[in-house]
Amino acid sequence: MCGIVGYVGGKEAYPIIIKGLKRLEYRGYDSAGVSIGNTKGIALLKQKGKVSDLEAYTEGREKSGSIGIGHTRWATHGVPNQVNAHPHLSGDGKLSLIHNGIIENYDSIKKALQSKGHIFNSDTDTEVLIHLIENIKNHEQVNLFESVRIALSEVIGAYAIVVMEEGVNNEFIAARKGSPLVIGVGRDEYYIASDASPIIEYTNEVVYLEDGEIARVNCEEVLEIKTITNKIITPYIQELKLSLDTIEKGGFSHFMLKEIYEQPKSILDTMRGRIDTESKEIKLGGISDYEQKIINADRIIIVACGTSWHAGLIGEYLLEDLARIPVEVEYASEFRYRNPIIRETDVVLAISQSGETADTLAALALAKQKGATVLGICNVVGSSIPRLTDGGIYTHAGPEIGVASTKAFTTQVVVLTLMSLRIAKQKGTLSNTNYHQLITQLELIPEKVERVLQTNDQIEKIAKQFKDVSNFLYLGRGYNFPVALEGALKLKEISYIHAEGYPAAEMKHGPIALIDADMPIVVIATKKGNYEKILSNIQEVKSRGGRLIAIVTEGDKTVKELADYCIEIPNCFEELTPLLSNIPLQLLSYHIALMRGCNVDQPRNLAKSVTVE
Ligand code: AGP
Ligand code: GLU
Repeated sequence: MCGIVGYVGGKEAYPIIIKGLKRLEYRGYDSAGVSIGNTKGIALLKQKGKVSDLEAYTEGREKSGSIGIGHTRWATHGVPNQVNAHPHLSGDGKLSLIHNGIIENYDSIKKALQSKGHIFNSDTDTEVLIHLIENIKNHEQVNLFESVRIALSEVIGAYAIVVMEEGVNNEFIAARKGSPLVIGVGRDEYYIASDASPIIEYTNEVVYLEDGEIARVNCEEVLEIKTITNKIITPYIQELKLSLDTIEKGGFSHFMLKEIYEQPKSILDTMRGRIDTESKEIKLGGISDYEQKIINADRIIIVACGTSWHAGLIGEYLLEDLARIPVEVEYASEFRYRNPIIRETDVVLAISQSGETADTLAALALAKQKGATVLGICNVVGSSIPRLTDGGIYTHAGPEIGVASTKAFTTQVVVLTLMSLRIAKQKGTLSNTNYHQLITQLELIPEKVERVLQTNDQIEKIAKQFKDVSNFLYLGRGYNFPVALEGALKLKEISYIHAEGYPAAEMKHGPIALIDADMPIVVIATKKGNYEKILSNIQEVKSRGGRLIAIVTEGDKTVKELADYCIEIPNCFEELTPLLSNIPLQLLSYHIALMRGCNVDQPRNLAKSVTVE
């Protein structure tokens, strides 16, 4: 995910683009760049860091011109540095491109272009696309509009792109598939951006480009749109009525809610290009060199903190259950200071959204120093943990702004599921039938998460009943035990209500003493996995007067008779349940926190990335 801004018209493009990029910085902020066209050619200016770093870099440099494109990057391919920052140029330097998304088949296109003499400077998938467009333009002798169309018909993946050409100072070409783009229509001028926030102060007339559409945006002409299959489309101009703040949050009142709702897409992005459509083979390029090491490992030690540690616990269940490899899950902060036994045959796997958590980083450094193979599961590309590890898998969840982790957790679990399935298959611990069933079910998860999100109104009503309590208990068994822990953490951190997560069967060894009418209990009681056992735990709570909110499988009747409130989630395999059962708990915390007047996106005392011990 990244931010795209473009301008063509009569004004100076650079200030408009910089201002727009700042508004889009929530979408990505590891590097930024602009291409500005004027009579002398294209001025390309890029810098690692935030848009303010780019501004400092461009100070005193030539950047005048009335056409330009700009990008704030959120790296997926290639570390965040100046070379990998966008815009990227064609081989002859005449075409300039910004891109949001992932070109999945970039590797094969790159090899084909290399054999034709193309030389690449960056590690990005994006640079391959601009060389492909250049190659088509030169060989087919067609204009840029048509070259882009032909190139995109060869591309697999997701993109929003804008391309400009040296010497053509009244026009750029834009296209989208899977990533957003909106065109602002002014008088003799056009704007383009990933969302309307950079545009709204100049015009409220916009055209939302649809998937598979390409636009020729010329400030002296009307907008021309066609599809990749060459069908002419009549642009539909609509009037924007939203405020700036609402647009940045995609219409949601908080980043946390936006990120909760993004989960179906984030899960798809995590799986994108990693499951072969025909054979269903899982490809995890970032760990392929270490696959045998994992298979032969004496044990896998997962190190993480907070929510990522909860994802690690689910990883333990998955890896042991499916791949039959012993797993230990450690709080990074404890692991690093307790003189742990680490052997060269161990694989140490760090899980971290930010990739910067000081404790996790230190635990990993220790493991590396002791000779273990170190791997990572991170969201932020090019962050410290991926740079320290031997290999790893990115979650590709897109930037997570809300301090409370939601989509990062879900996508970490998706990666752990993919990894467990891949290793299990290679190791032969999972039958072909079970493997295929699990993959098929995994591919259905985004759609099922959509369905869970429809329970939002119901959850809001439930939240109203519990907003004033002082304590909460979360119970779950098996795969749902880490979900209970995560549900409790989410409530604590954003609503400041004391909450504890427990394995349901452990309740009788202590916490049961707490249960009375003032102690609400959230119990995850889905059909697959220890259902009968959890029913007994529910009875134990009920007979002591506890108020119960239950997360159940669609159609469940038994729990419904016992619980005060039931939230239904679609049926799925036990191994995949956390991907669904966690969502209502995120929404419950969100609504309770909101009703208590808490700052949902920036809870007190917390930071998004904990870079101190
Ligand atoms: C999550 O909601 C928390 N804010 C926190 O526990 C977080 O998961 C933890 O600090 C680890 O962060 P990381 O994933 O970036 O390493
Ligand atoms: N895949 C591209 C890159 O890594 C674009 C990422 C983005 O959307 O920012 O450069």
